[in-house]
Amino acid sequence: MSAEPAMKDVLISVRGITKEFRRGKQTVYALRDIDLDIYDGEYLSIMGPSGSGKSTLFNMVGALDRPTAGAVVVGGVSLETLHSSELAYFRGRHPLDQGRACGTHPKPRRDQYRSR
Ligand SMILES: Nc1ncnc2c1ncn2[C@@H]1O[C@H](COP(=O)(O)OP(=O)(O)OP(=O)(O)O)[C@@H](O)[C@H]1O
Ligand SMILES: [Mg+2]
Repeated sequence: MSAEPAMKDVLISVRGITKEFRRGKQTVYALRDIDLDIYDGEYLSIMGPSGSGKSTLFNMVGALDRPTAGAVVVGGVSLETLHSSELAYFRGRHPLDQGRACGTHPKPRRDQYRSR
């Protein structure tokens, strides 16, 4: 039996993200053109070999780092629109840290992440 999530709201939307790191003259692509949707209430695992970019992806979704290109939207908030102080505020209220991804809390609103 499949554990189909209630496909109502997309909580996290990743579109075309790329993350490059420069190592001397070399460019390392930790992520290249990644799309991912995570739905409210969904439970999932992300698996891949060492170096495939899992931690880098979580850093982008968790607002710890910014992608070189592409868009990350969490709870309706476009992370690229937040300044670094707003990102820090956002991290303290991240829906994945507060059980909201399990559908047990109200959906976050964009204005909750604005610094005051
Ligand atoms: N700060 C960094 N500077 C340079 N390259 C980096 C940096 N962070 C990650 N990378 C490179 O990006 C790629 C993806 O790394 P990442 O740590 O996201 O992989 P991972 O899937 O989490 O691996 P693991 O399973 O070992 O934790 C690797 O080639 C890694 O060497
Ligand atoms: Mg890792």
